[in-house]
Amino acid sequence: TVDVTVPALSLVALVGISGSGKSTFARRLFGPHEVLSSDAFRAMVSGDENDQSATADAFELLFAVAGKRLDRGLLTVVDATHVQPEARRKLVALARAHDVLPAAVVLDVPEAECAARNAARPDRQFGRGVLRRQSDQLRRGMRSLAKEGFRSVTVLRSAAEVDAARLVRTP
Ligand code: GTP
Ligand code: MG
Repeated sequence: TVDVTVPALSLVALVGISGSGKSTFARRLFGPHEVLSSDAFRAMVSGDENDQSATADAFELLFAVAGKRLDRGLLTVVDATHVQPEARRKLVALARAHDVLPAAVVLDVPEAECAARNAARPDRQFGRGVLRRQSDQLRRGMRSLAKEGFRSVTVLRSAAEVDAARLVRTP
């Protein structure tokens, strides 16, 4: 098993392409109110969790909720791909603004496996180009997470590691 160690009061970014198992992982290891999902916020503001035109509004609200939680001393997980450096930069800035530690958990699952999983999902019928691009972005960013300001970084290197991961909260 792999220990995913996060500071008890942290802002946790899940990092992984679509289908890598972020939402499943978050449901298994964190409490329901600890996880803020970009899809859920997109759905709240637009009625459609896949409506990309709602992304800016969704993140504005997600970050507002995250900030309120962090100010109350509550660990918060952001369930979004975080494959783009700009998305991670904003999360690190939010953590700093609220005096908590930013943590990253990378779900590094092979693109082909994610594509196969997504093929079985009625709500994720985008082309292979989308996964390809996310995968390229993830590859480019993975080495620099500590340099970007993440104070704890855990990389889960396969679906098996994701499944076996245990959560450890450090005081
Ligand atoms: P997006 O929300 O699209 O970014 O994907 P995600 O990273 O949140 O993936 P999600 O947790 O929704 O998992 C994608 C699909 O893979 C779902 O149908 C899950 O049931 C399935 N899945 C997740 N984890 C596992 C796993 O460990 N093994 C297998 N076989 N399937 C899994
Ligand atoms: Mg998801």
